[in-house]
This record gives sequence, C-alpha cells and structure tokens, in this order.
Amino acid sequence: MNNGITLIDVSGQPAREQTFWPTVVLRRAIIEAEIERLASIDRPVDGRRAAAVNHPMNTGPVPAFAPGIDVHIVVLKPGEETVPVLRNSSSVDMCIRGSATVSNGGMPFQVEKYDVWNTPSMHPVVYRNDGNDLFVRLSYSNTPLLERLDVHYSSPVEGARQNGDRPSEPHVVQRSARDAAVPIPIGQDGAQLMGYEWLVDIDTIDSKVLHWPWKDVAPHLDQVHNLDLSYTGRHLYVLYNPATERRIGTSHSFFATIAKLPPGKVDKPHRHTSAAINYIMWGHGKSVVNGERIEWEEGDLHFSAPGWSIHNHASREQGFMALTIQDHPLHIAMESLLWQETLKSPITKLGSEQGIETNLTAIGG
Ligand SMILES: [Fe+2]
Repeated sequence: MNNGITLIDVSGQPAREQTFWPTVVLRRAIIEAEIERLASIDRPVDGRRAAAVNHPMNTGPVPAFAPGIDVHIVVLKPGEETVPVLRNSSSVDMCIRGSATVSNGGMPFQVEKYDVWNTPSMHPVVYRNDGNDLFVRLSYSNTPLLERLDVHYSSPVEGARQNGDRPSEPHVVQRSARDAAVPIPIGQDGAQLMGYEWLVDIDTIDSKVLHWPWKDVAPHLDQVHNLDLSYTGRHLYVLYNPATERRIGTSHSFFATIAKLPPGKVDKPHRHTSAAINYIMWGHGKSVVNGERIEWEEGDLHFSAPGWSIHNHASREQGFMALTIQDHPLHIAMESLLWQETLKSPITKLGSEQGIETNLTAIGG
C-alpha cells in the first residue's frame, strides 16, 4: 500500500520552462464602474464591499493579479464600518477616494486620497467612513501565496487572541530556557547545533501599522522628479517600514514605492524575480514587457512586471506618478531575489552579493 503516493522519475529532467503571466491593464473606467457597483449592493455581513482583481492566467486557489499578490478594490459607504478579522496575511493599502478613520489598537488615524499604510499579520484594523463620499482603497496582500500553501489563517476577532492581550509596554524578556540551550559549534564555518528553544523563542521585532500621509510624502517627490534624465536609478522613494530591516519593505512581503518621473524618461530594460503592479496616480506612459507594448494613464492598474520578464517603462510629455507594489522583501527572505539591472549586467542575487551602483553621486543628486 502506498496510499496513493506515486514516485515520479525526474532523473535528467530539464528545468520546467516558466510561464510568464502577460502584462495587463485594468482601466480606470472599469475600476470606477466596479466602485459604483460595490456601493450599490446590500451591505455584506462583515461590512467589506470588495472586488478582487483577477489576472486572466490565474488558476487560483484565490483571485490574484500577480502569482503572489492580490489586489482588492474595497469600498465603504459614508457611515459604514468594517468588522475586524485576524489573519496571518499582511497588506499594504492606498486610499484612492474619500477618507476614513483607521483604528488599529493604537491611536486611530485619518486616511485620505493617496495615503498609504500597512497592516501587519494578526493585527485587525477597523475602517470607519466618517466622511460624505465613498471611501475607496486598493488593498494588496500576500494572501495568494498563503492560500497556495493552504495556511491562510483567518478568524473573527471575538474569541480569538486579541491584539490588546499582548503587552503593549516594553517588558523584560524571560529567556532562561533559550539561554540554557547553549549552541554547539560544528566545524569552523559557523555551522551549529541548537536546541528546540531556539526554534520557538526567536528574536522579535516590533511590527506595527505605519502611515505615510500623502501630504507628508508628496513634497519630497520633487527631489526624485528633478533628478537629471541621465540618472541610471529610478525616480522614486520606497515607503520604508523598519520592521523589514535590510529587506527594505513596506510590509514583510512587499515594498511600496511612489515614483514621480519627469517627462521623456525611458528606463533601461531590466528584470527581477519580484513581480510588480503599478497604480498610475497621475500622468501617462508606456511599457514594453516581455516584448509586448502597452500604454497606461491616470487611474489605471497595471500588472507591469511578471517575475523575471524583461521590461521597461517610459514617461511621455507629462511625466507620471505611480504606486508600485513588488514582492521584493519576500524574495530577499527566500534568497531568491535575482536582479539584472540592464541586459548587459550580470545576474545578481541581491541581499547576499554586491548590489548595484547608480550614478547618483556623479550627477550630484
Ligand atoms: Fe522593474
């Protein structure tokens, strides 16, 4: 009896050819129509009026716009409030219309158009629309990967562990068991044996909701916008969450960047194993992704870089601003972030090999 388990001969089998999901654009008019539809339906039990953006190549198990990233268009009508849920997925959100109060266990804060914030895993938040317009946000999460692994934990807050149960004040860490489990060196290169205590009592880092208000971010974008056209980097800032440390993320899985490109900027074709989704906040431009040309403009949502496909983006006579979400920190954690800055550059494993130098100092940026 083998209980249905089979053995598959893979001896000498070549590597599987990877499938690149094609670049696609969800147009502003479709997004706006969906927002109106969501506003017209009966209020769902959990208060969450949401549409998941599903790429035509996605095979599930849940809707996704990149293989490891979902994007939900979430609508809250004036006076409505969401029901908090505990999940082990994490998200990055951008408000694209209206305003709301976000309560997260700490000080509530107000979000408005183009504000960005993150929601850590197992950290329920409540949204309340106390304005007069619809509150609309784009919510990006790592749910598709957790669902693929069949470990997406989701539970009502009631009866589950609540955020408030955890000590909010700094406290003395009791670590006598781990201290007693003294590591044993093996060989000369750092290999060790460690006791179980090291698996279940790992060093912690404070993971909290951070908020990047548009009014505080926008003035700084002139700095990158004004960089010379000969700049070899990208005209952007990453919205950095210190909890992600050297992985330079906004959540533990994604970085969010806001780019402001000057007119007439054409990035060099490049590729990276991280996948990218752009939301065009202002202006317009065009891309070539895996040989396919595509144009986009304000209000469009662009699946702009399938992992490891060659791509570049260009502004036109206006320039543009865009929010980019990319599963870059996730890949650094997995040691799988391959990066090729130009097609003549070597393929670099970012995070454990020497990174890439731009000409920022040479152009006096
Ligand atoms: Fe890119």
